[in-house]
Amino acid sequence: MSNVKACIFDLDGVIVDTAKYHYLAWKRLANEMGFDLTEEQNEQLKGISRMASLDILLGIGNQVFDKKEKVELADRKNTWYRECIIKMKPDEIFPGVIDFLNQVKAAGMKSAIGSASKNAMTILEQLGIVDYFDSIIDGNKAQKAKPNPEVFLKASIELAVAPEHCVVFEDAQAGVEAAKNGGMFCVGVGSPEILGQANMVVAGLHEMKIEMLDF
Ligand code: BG6
Ligand code: MG
Repeated sequence: MSNVKACIFDLDGVIVDTAKYHYLAWKRLANEMGFDLTEEQNEQLKGISRMASLDILLGIGNQVFDKKEKVELADRKNTWYRECIIKMKPDEIFPGVIDFLNQVKAAGMKSAIGSASKNAMTILEQLGIVDYFDSIIDGNKAQKAKPNPEVFLKASIELAVAPEHCVVFEDAQAGVEAAKNGGMFCVGVGSPEILGQANMVVAGLHEMKIEMLDF
C-alpha cells in the first residue's frame, strides 16, 4: 500500500490553464506602463500572491508607486483577469485531471487545492469541480506567499494527513519550493528545465497514474 494518503493540487497551471490569463493581464498592465513582460520573466510571477507578483512586475519595469497606487494597479489587473475566468467552461480543465482525481479517490486518498489565488473558488465553481476536493485552501485562507509552505501545511491540517504522507502537484518554481519547505513530496507539472527541483516531473496530469505514487 502506498505511503501517500493525500494529493494537494495547485490550481492555476495544474488543473486549468489560468496561468495564461494571469500572464495576459499582467502583460497588459506592463504595456500600459510602457514596458513589456516576456514569458520567461512571467515565470517569476507564477505561484505567488497578487501583490508579490505586482512588486516583481514593477521591479522588471523599474516603476515606483505608493501603496494606494499599487492596490489600484492590482485591482485593475484583477478586473481584466476576472473578465476571462468568469467565461471559463469545464472543457478548459486540463486533459487527464478528472481521471486522475477519480483515481486518487478510488485509491482511498484525500484531495485538496493549495492555491495562492483569491479567485480559486470562482474558478472551481465555473469548472464545476468544487466537490472533488476534501479541502480547499486559497489566497483568502493563507496569507504567506509560496515558497512559504503555509498553504500546503494548512491543507495537510484540514485533511488530517501529515506532510510526509502528502504529495503536492505544482507548475511554479515557488510552489515546488513551498512543497519541499513543507516536507512534502513534489510532482512538478510542466517542463523539467523549469521544475528541476521537484522530486518527479510530468508534462501534465494526463501522464499521471496512481501507481506512480506507490512509494
Ligand atoms: C497563483 C498564480 O495561483 O495565484 C499567480 O500562480 C497569482 O500567478 C496568484 O498571482 C494570485 O492569484 P489571484 O487570483 O488572487 O490574483
Ligand atoms: Mg500554479
